[in-house]
Amino acid sequence: MGNELRHIAFIMDGNGRWAKKRHLPREFGHRAGVETFRRVLTHCRDLGIPFITVYAFSTENWKRPQHEVDALMDLLSRYLRECLRDAKKNKARFCFIGDPEPLSDALKAQIRDVESATSGYDSVVNIALNYGSRHELVQAFEKLVREGKTEFTEEDVDRALYTAHCPDPDLIVRTAGEKRLSNFLLWQAAYAEFYFTDTLWPDLSNREIDSIVADYSARVRRYGAVKEEPSSGANGKGDEAS
Ligand code: IPE
Ligand code: IPE
Ligand code: MG
Repeated sequence: MGNELRHIAFIMDGNGRWAKKRHLPREFGHRAGVETFRRVLTHCRDLGIPFITVYAFSTENWKRPQHEVDALMDLLSRYLRECLRDAKKNKARFCFIGDPEPLSDALKAQIRDVESATSGYDSVVNIALNYGSRHELVQAFEKLVREGKTEFTEEDVDRALYTAHCPDPDLIVRTAGEKRLSNFLLWQAAYAEFYFTDTLWPDLSNREIDSIVADYSARVRRYGAVKEEPSSGANGKGDEAS
């Protein structure tokens, strides 16, 4: 029996490099990235994974050239329109994690519409938009202080984060070769497994996802305790040491 995979998260990186390799403007990479996102979402749902989170735009991505930011917001708006249209077909609850404040009023309204149209479904797709983990943590502590708390438990913090409706991610996959979190789910990733692939996000195939999931499934997750490797169990059945 492999590890259960309830929550998979993707840092969708490498769209710009994908376009550059083809001598195309970066925006074309983002467009291809949206296609991959749609396919990956369907594939993960077919695999029975109930929680999927994707990093779409970070609090630091505003530093990019204005035309690229505009193109990303435009793609997002188009995707939201499609999401609203296909709400019944997708059968997933779409949640936006991040600070919506700097987004346009039109985009904020689209987000509200998609969230309310899909709120009745159990399986969850989180789209991290203007998301930054440090900002999320600061906002969480501010919220707790506003509630009058002077002492917090870990559960209090969990409840105050954007991800309060989700278990912690089991597996975080980053494409395009970079081996960093870039301000993504710092608190929630305390015991996540990581997988880094050189594949650029638009090129990530379903077959590679299957092999990433298989790799994750075979890992030994100890959470600081002692757990014997499956093959070294005393009775040969992969029993756990206490
Ligand atoms: C990820 O691809 C998409 C976003 C950050 C919005 P990049 O645009 O970061 O692609 P690279 O890293 O430049 O190749
Ligand atoms: C992380 O990718 C953010 C998203 C994938 C949305 P970046 O491309 O922005 O990260 P850095 O700048 O390489 O760390
Ligand atoms: Mg990048």
